[in-house]
Amino acid sequence: MYKINDNYLKLPGSYLFSTIAKKVNAFTATNPDKKIIRLGIGDVTQPLSPSIIKRLHEAVDEMAARETFKGYAPDLGYEFLRSAIAKNDYEARGAKIGIDEIFISDGAKSDSGNIGDIFAKDNKIAVCDPVYPVYVDTNAMAGRTGDYDSANSRWTNVIYMPCLEENGFAPQLPEQVPDIIYLCFPNNPTGATITKDELQKWVDYALANNAVIIYDAAYEAYISEENVPHTIYECDGARKCAIEIRSFSKNAGFTGTRLGFTVVPKDIVCDGVMLNSLWARRHGTKFNGAPYIIQAAGAACYTPEGKQEIRELVGYYMQNAKTILEGLKEAGFTVSGGVNAPYIWLKTDGMTSWEFFDYLLNEANVVGTPGSGFGPAGEGYFRLTAFGTHENTVEAIDRIKKLRA
Ligand code: MLT
Repeated sequence: MYKINDNYLKLPGSYLFSTIAKKVNAFTATNPDKKIIRLGIGDVTQPLSPSIIKRLHEAVDEMAARETFKGYAPDLGYEFLRSAIAKNDYEARGAKIGIDEIFISDGAKSDSGNIGDIFAKDNKIAVCDPVYPVYVDTNAMAGRTGDYDSANSRWTNVIYMPCLEENGFAPQLPEQVPDIIYLCFPNNPTGATITKDELQKWVDYALANNAVIIYDAAYEAYISEENVPHTIYECDGARKCAIEIRSFSKNAGFTGTRLGFTVVPKDIVCDGVMLNSLWARRHGTKFNGAPYIIQAAGAACYTPEGKQEIRELVGYYMQNAKTILEGLKEAGFTVSGGVNAPYIWLKTDGMTSWEFFDYLLNEANVVGTPGSGFGPAGEGYFRLTAFGTHENTVEAIDRIKKLRA
């Protein structure tokens, strides 16, 4: 008789954003006349920019002619895209990354979930608390997290690194040494970030303890301040201990077209085995590549026009972030984030995160994300995203301000 992977049964509830979607759908069903403004999931609202769309159309036409038609993509992704990434995302930042260290994928969510495949089950993971739920849930599916203790909303075999107001929402180096450390900067959900010197401490810690860092840099394009690292490979020694995951979703608006990549430097070696070889083996076996047309569109992000358009797109969302940040401050909320990231993190003032979710949905018809959905230290907090349209963002903040008037 076959058996299921019963680690799935340990997962509490459904995926955070699925739970929210269900709640919002139920509300809409009973309140069809209400105009809901969605500032919950970090999904973009602006169309793909002109030079990206142009390249996408051209690539579609290429698929229509025998001479230019493309079948399966190369295992690691098209070289034209990997070269553009190596040059623009790394060389331009003083980091040396070879094109055979870059693996094109269908997005950062898949990669951050799949990367666990190359690690043994008995590795101990450390995560920020609060944290993007994919890291924890996928490790739970792999049987790496122990059991879920609903009394304290924690997994028994996970090292939690609390990111609290008093430490600027930055994690401290854990006393108990993990094997795999998940870091995300600029951070989802808090919008916080750390300086290059602080990130260097994590790299030094990982090297000293034979740990590996999974560094999620999906929000890199939103960095506006100096001395915030754009890639972990700006830090000395990171090539020996850090895997970096990137996305085209948040900078260029590819949430619906799907494109991302992961960097696995060949210098990361465990017991004589390069992680790069393991990830290449996994990628080649389980993945058949992001579509040619999407990779072609992705390469357009690195042309001078594409770069300018992306800057404008990011600027548009950061204007929303400012509107939310300043509006909520005026309304008397304690808020942070929103300066180097498209997420604003606010205190729920005496309500639990889910109570605040219901309150905002019912009273202002605004959807956000409850902080506790990202981990126990997120309780009492709430996340709003800057990815809405500007008009909706202004209206949402006006509605929230009226609640406090
Ligand atoms: C979020 O809202 O945290 C993100 O949009 C989720 C994701 O990128 O998968």
